[in-house]
Amino acid sequence: MTNTLKILFIGDVVGVPGLKILKEYLPLLKEKYSSEFIIVNGENACNGKGLTETESKEIFDAGANVITSGNHIWENWKTKALLADATNILRPYNYPPGCVGRSFCYDIVGELTICVLQLQGRTYMQAIDCPFRGADNILKKISQKTNIIIVDFHADATAEKLAMGWHLDGRVSAVLGTHTHVQTADARIMPGGTAYISDVGMTGASDSVVGMKKDIALRRYIYQTPHKYEVAEGDPKISGAFIEINPEDGKAVYIEPFILPEFNKRVESNSIHEVS
Ligand SMILES: [Fe+2]
Ligand SMILES: [Fe+2]
Repeated sequence: MTNTLKILFIGDVVGVPGLKILKEYLPLLKEKYSSEFIIVNGENACNGKGLTETESKEIFDAGANVITSGNHIWENWKTKALLADATNILRPYNYPPGCVGRSFCYDIVGELTICVLQLQGRTYMQAIDCPFRGADNILKKISQKTNIIIVDFHADATAEKLAMGWHLDGRVSAVLGTHTHVQTADARIMPGGTAYISDVGMTGASDSVVGMKKDIALRRYIYQTPHKYEVAEGDPKISGAFIEINPEDGKAVYIEPFILPEFNKRVESNSIHEVS
């Protein structure tokens, strides 16, 4: 096998804290993994909802080649103009015909052509067109051009995500989940050579509920009444996955998820039993 193609995929960037840690860590990650291509999900970059030219510029300046998105991309009216013009900012493929924007794009790294495709699930989400049939349709076209295909599957239910992983195993290089903002511990290379993880997690404040202020989220759950979410700021982390692909056949050979800085998983006993 010749040198592998090294790709970084970063989970949903949430507001200013997400953008800030992205800018801080992406150059370090790029160097650490010798990454040649970077995909960033930016659906929550503008104050938690959508993406404008300002945030997209910050994400590209930080090193991204392609920005993917999801359901929240439609919640900011400024995003629509951006989607109409940009060639490397994607929205999910399986929204009904007539929606603005692109859902897949090609990029060149050296002599290799990489395709990034965005799909969205339907379980607990909008009743859009079928992502499984949608993938089948569009892959007929994409597969004629390249076998290096990275899919951002923006979906809520882990079962639907796993089903998509199996559906596309051997046909794409990676199926990487986004949307829940919580990283799952099921990263693997599927038998057909597709790198898979149900969700890569988010890039934003971890002292939060999925990037939003805790007290507001608690009010929503406890009182079951509407309370407008606000982006949280504390303890930001960057989440994502590093994948390596064999450029000869487009199959993945390695996947490594990360959350940085790492969460505390142990508190030293002398610090919790300190007596004043
Ligand atoms: Fe998100
Ligand atoms: Fe989402």
